Amino acid sequence: MSLIDDAAKVRLNAHAPYSNFQVGAAIRAASGKVYVGCNVENIAYPEGTCAEAGAIAAMVAGGDTVITDVAVFSGGPKPITPCGGCRQKLAEFASPDVIVKLATTTGAECQTTVGDLLPGSFGASHMSEG
Ligand code: THU
Repeated sequence: MSLIDDAAKVRLNAHAPYSNFQVGAAIRAASGKVYVGCNVENIAYPEGTCAEAGAIAAMVAGGDTVITDVAVFSGGPKPITPCGGCRQKLAEFASPDVIVKLATTTGAECQTTVGDLLPGSFGASHMSEG
């Protein structure tokens, strides 16, 4: 099963009754393990979480901290890209060259990298300059 297949499968578990927009994410870690997550919305809207955040949380809970590949799967004709907050979350555990594959239920597919998603990101190097 490809990472996109993993993301498509977990998307079916998304809890998205408010947006009706289901998203699945799958992350491969340096250990080779694959971690998945889906969006989990809440009636208190700001409390909802993104699919990528869920996959990252599962990865860290599973003992991994290095991301080597990412896939995000959504509905609609056009692949979505991770939201700003999830870009920062991915950058915490992925180097800029890590590939992020984006695919949809209609078969559209494209790819980008963590670095292209978050150029000029705030990182640990900034903390030592103060
Ligand atoms: N969403 C994700 O899970 N990942 C993204 O990268 C973008 C948006 C979710 C959040 C919300 O539950 C729904 O999609 C609509 O914004």
